[in-house]
Amino acid sequence: MTTTFPPKQLIYAGRRPFILLAASVSVTVAIFFIIVSAISLDPFPLPLRPLIKTSTTGADTDSKMPHTFALATAAQNESLGFGEIVYISMPYRTDRQDAMNLVASTTGIKLKLIPGVDGSTIHEKAKPDFLPENLTPSALGCWRAHADAWRYMLDSNLESLLILEDDVDWDINIHEIMEHLSLEMQNNPLRLDPQTEREREAAPYGLDWDFLFLGHCLDSANPDRNDLFHMYKDNNMPERESQIHEMKDMERRFGLSEQQISEYRTLSPTWFPACTMSYAITRRGAQRLLMWLSYMGLNAPVDNDIAFKAQSGHLHGYDLNPPPFGAWRVQGSKDSDNQEFEEGKPLAGEGNRGGFSLNVRNSARKRLASLLYADTWNRYEKMFPKKSDEEVAAAKSEGKMGYR
Ligand SMILES: *[C@@H]1O[C@H](CO)[C@@H](O)[C@H](O)[C@H]1NC(C)=O
Repeated sequence: MTTTFPPKQLIYAGRRPFILLAASVSVTVAIFFIIVSAISLDPFPLPLRPLIKTSTTGADTDSKMPHTFALATAAQNESLGFGEIVYISMPYRTDRQDAMNLVASTTGIKLKLIPGVDGSTIHEKAKPDFLPENLTPSALGCWRAHADAWRYMLDSNLESLLILEDDVDWDINIHEIMEHLSLEMQNNPLRLDPQTEREREAAPYGLDWDFLFLGHCLDSANPDRNDLFHMYKDNNMPERESQIHEMKDMERRFGLSEQQISEYRTLSPTWFPACTMSYAITRRGAQRLLMWLSYMGLNAPVDNDIAFKAQSGHLHGYDLNPPPFGAWRVQGSKDSDNQEFEEGKPLAGEGNRGGFSLNVRNSARKRLASLLYADTWNRYEKMFPKKSDEEVAAAKSEGKMGYR
């Protein structure tokens, strides 16, 4: 990709104010060095500060495996082993909020709502610099809502946060899928930095990433680095037919056989994910996202700009493929908040009763009806067989009323 950092406009803006020639030359030189170091080094090496006090027992440093298993069980908790889970939903989409609350509570997940933003309400002065002219108000609103989620995390006492959009579906075995991912990530061979004590103690997925993509509609890995991936067998893999073909193409480029594509998930450094249905962030990730996708400007819709900055190397993360979260689709205008009602397109499509999602084997949304099934009258019939009119009359004559 052709994105360069920092954008040229920043460089020119930095030169403009200086009047005295000598001062201007030396300041320009200084700015030049700052820019050079910003390009070649970590631009703002902020320490990743654990907010929760690190235990000082020093236990488990030399017995990694049992500890690893213990840590992975955190994926069984209501936030899947992340600090919290939030989801973004336009305030008016109460139908989707009902659905998310229902699916989450039924599968042992706790969610917090981050309100979506109508892009047209964002003040001119609050719009990020370098905004492309063709960026739609809904894309701008989408960016704002995600930025609000990043900020929410930094204001909270969290080390990781999972961010969902309100149209996702997931597997009823999501806890098991995530527990397995945790085991793989604790032994992640693709790490750039050694595991810290804090990660070994309390981070089921490590903290060596800015983001971890768990729900995207398309993906491709760095075409120059088809060697950089980690694969592992998963019992909850989606059926081959329900896997998105661009993601299968990517795994073919990694060298996986067709059989392997149907049995293994791959973890690879983020290059070009599209859509932001589900991704986790670390504190460092939230800081870098706010810096590159707000403070420094915004160059594209939020998912594309994340991809551009991943490609330039300024953001670092991993993508899991196939992703365990998929988009729930009902095939009607309700499917998108980015478009107006389309003429001729039904509002509700098939409705939730006919909806579907890709990449999900045992869809929690589809299974809702059986998970919450009740069979009231057949059970009464079995447990309280109907009495005949004679039996009821006889009981009544003895002064007994009601079922006995
Ligand atoms: C789930 O586990 C993670 C990691 O241990 C923890 O940070 C989080 O608070 C836990 N969530 C709940 C709801 O207990």
